[in-house]
Amino acid sequence: DDAERLAAFEARVAADEFIEPKDWMPDAYRKTLVRQISQHAHSEIVGMLPEGNWIGRAPSLRRKAILLAKVQDEAGHGLYLYCAAETLGTSRDEMTAALLAGKAKYSTIFNYPTLTWADIGTIGWLVDGAAIMNQVPLQRTSYGPYARAMVRICKEESFHQRQGYEAVMALCAGTPEQKAMAQDALNRWWWPSLMMFGPPDDASPNTEQSMRWRIKRDTNDALRQKFVDVTVPQAEAIGLTIPDPALRWNEDKDGYDFGQPDWDEFWAVVKGDGPVAADRMAARNKAWDDGAWVRDAAIAHAEKRALKRAA
Ligand code: ACO
Repeated sequence: DDAERLAAFEARVAADEFIEPKDWMPDAYRKTLVRQISQHAHSEIVGMLPEGNWIGRAPSLRRKAILLAKVQDEAGHGLYLYCAAETLGTSRDEMTAALLAGKAKYSTIFNYPTLTWADIGTIGWLVDGAAIMNQVPLQRTSYGPYARAMVRICKEESFHQRQGYEAVMALCAGTPEQKAMAQDALNRWWWPSLMMFGPPDDASPNTEQSMRWRIKRDTNDALRQKFVDVTVPQAEAIGLTIPDPALRWNEDKDGYDFGQPDWDEFWAVVKGDGPVAADRMAARNKAWDDGAWVRDAAIAHAEKRALKRAA
């Protein structure tokens, strides 16, 4: 019966076994995974926009080639994640429809504008850096297909983080104007990057259950702390200042104390009020509409081939 199946499921999770698509799972576990994986997939897809916006303006052929590869990687991540979510019984069409209708969430970070070239390096450094911090533990998430999708994604995110830091490093070694541009980008992206980890643990409705089911392996605050601890020395190494007057080393906890992002702004952006949220949704809808002929042609081609094969 259900109580027995639930106990067996929980024992498997507690033993760090992967749960696979055909295994029995509680409805709420399935629902939570669909929610998290589909949001994650949407984030990868919408995340192509702020950077895609700079491909034509990258300052050299080398930077352009790197940026093209990175944006293409994000599309791939979105596809692996949609596939992982599909193993739970939701279709990619349903997930896409929810995104295009403005009903699905995606990471708040992608609702901020990329104003200068320094923003592109800073996104690689901070945004992909935060993404790795969150995604490395997800390689051990309890749902097999999600965990396995994370393996390749983390390898690619690691390249993204490094190329970003290297681009910022180049600006910091450049003219005073270039260095100022890097500092300005850090000032604007620091707090939104901290928001990527989600609300503080005591304001996070999903954390407790997701930790118990080992969907999440660390809490939002724990990952945010790790990110700050890793990133502050990186900023110092290239002569940049983290825009947080409360930031200081805490010997006792062997980590930094730091200030809190503006959580009212965070919730407003979660609800769709981001500075460029409307632009992002318009761009996704336009891409979908503009791509209709490709989908139609692919279906017509497949139908023709099926007819030929049947003949
Ligand atoms: N942006 C948008 N929504 C957010 C964010 C954020 N930065 N942080 C939290 N939320 C939403 C949650 O989705 C949740 O809403 P929901 O219940 O309607 O889904 C609500 O705020 C409350 O947050 P939590 O209870 O903390 O939610 P959760 O346990 O899902 O934790 C987290 C949020 C940490 C983002 C988790 O879902 C996760 O680890 N996701 C996988 C990683 C990911 O999505 N990364 C995307 C950005 S990285 C990249 O794409 C390059």
